[in-house]
Amino acid sequence: MKTTNTYRTLTGLMLVLLATLPCTTVARSYEKPTNLRKGKSAQIVSSAPTITTPIMELCSEDINMKLACHCTPESNAKAQKASCSIFDGELPRKDNNWLAFHTQTELEHLKFTVRKSGNLTYIPSDVIATLYKLRTLTIEYGIISDIYPYAFGNLTELRVLNLPNNQIVTLHSNAFAHHKSLEELMLENNYIKKIDRDAFVDVPKLIKLNLANNSIFNLHDNGFEELTKLEELRLESNQIAVLAREYFKGLENLKILKLSYNDVEYLGAFVFADLWSLQMLFLDSNRIEKIDERAFDGLTSMNYLHLENNRITTLDSSTFTSVSALQLLNLDSNRLTTMTYGHIVPLMDNLVNSSALLSLRGKHPFPSA
Ligand SMILES: *[C@@H]1O[C@H](CO)[C@@H](O)[C@H](O)[C@H]1NC(C)=O
Ligand SMILES: *[C@@H]1O[C@H](CO)[C@@H](O)[C@H](O)[C@H]1NC(C)=O
Ligand SMILES: *[C@@H]1O[C@H](CO)[C@@H](O)[C@H](O)[C@H]1NC(C)=O
Ligand SMILES: *[C@@H]1O[C@H](CO)[C@@H](O)[C@H](O)[C@H]1NC(C)=O
Repeated sequence: MKTTNTYRTLTGLMLVLLATLPCTTVARSYEKPTNLRKGKSAQIVSSAPTITTPIMELCSEDINMKLACHCTPESNAKAQKASCSIFDGELPRKDNNWLAFHTQTELEHLKFTVRKSGNLTYIPSDVIATLYKLRTLTIEYGIISDIYPYAFGNLTELRVLNLPNNQIVTLHSNAFAHHKSLEELMLENNYIKKIDRDAFVDVPKLIKLNLANNSIFNLHDNGFEELTKLEELRLESNQIAVLAREYFKGLENLKILKLSYNDVEYLGAFVFADLWSLQMLFLDSNRIEKIDERAFDGLTSMNYLHLENNRITTLDSSTFTSVSALQLLNLDSNRLTTMTYGHIVPLMDNLVNSSALLSLRGKHPFPSA
């Protein structure tokens, strides 16, 4: 009896043991995922590069993310186009959100709009440099004071770079270098004041450069020298007071030059003489008082000349001799007291055309009698 009892007790014990063993195993394996989840969020904070972190879905449009993108095609894992918003405070360089771009290697068009609640203080160079197929890139409404050398990596397909409204102050040397296909560089509505002499180098195909509405007060001799393909240069709404021939060296294909709303007082001889292809020159709304009689020498292709809203009092009779292709000459709102037939003789052949215009209206008009 005793032995049987002992046997039973032992069997019972073993059963209990057998029953409890898997139980503890289950309990342990149950704990694991909880630990793992904790571990994951810890990794987000520390952003240790060697540990695998969960890849965020870039195109999820999840408004809880600091960086949410709308992608096209929508259902495709590899999007070609992404329009992203940055919300909710500063987005640090090492933020986990940026990792989402590692899955989007086919992106051709990318736009970042910093929303009112967000803050972006740098160009996300590390991310951009990996998007080899990128053709257009826009970043707007950031607070990005400096564009550092090679900020956009080495993207050989990049055609258009839009950086308006970012409070940019300084363009460093080689800021846009290594972009062999870049055609349009838009930097309007910033606070650009300091442009390195070598800011616009190694962008051999640049066609449009927009620097309008900034705080530029001086340009560099030969600062645009490498931009031999440039056709449009926009510098309106800045604080440029002096124009020199050397600033425009190399711009042999420039067709449109906008210098409206600056502080230019004087146009010296040959100042535009290197701009052989120029067709439109906007010098309206400056403080121009005096124009050298040879200021427009070399502008043989020029069709449109805007000089309205300045302080011009007199013009030498040979001022327009070299610009015989003019179709429009606007001298409205100046302080001209005398203007003779001699001034416009060189232009008469063109001005007989019904679409041509010589305008002299404004505050101190040339007396019609
Ligand atoms: C953006 O972040 C920078 C750097 O942290 C800070 O100096 C600035 O005040 C922030 N601006 C806004 C509008 O949050
Ligand atoms: C830029 O990319 C091209 C093509 O991939 C490569 O040949 C070149 O060495 C790269 N230059 C730099 C500075 O990374
Ligand atoms: C000029 O740029 C500032 C920002 O730098 C912007 O607030 C303003 O609206 C711009 N002006 C025009 C005419 O675009
Ligand atoms: C008048 O100007 C237009 C536009 O520049 C041009 O196409 C046209 O040939 C000109 N006509 C004459 C008669 O010169």
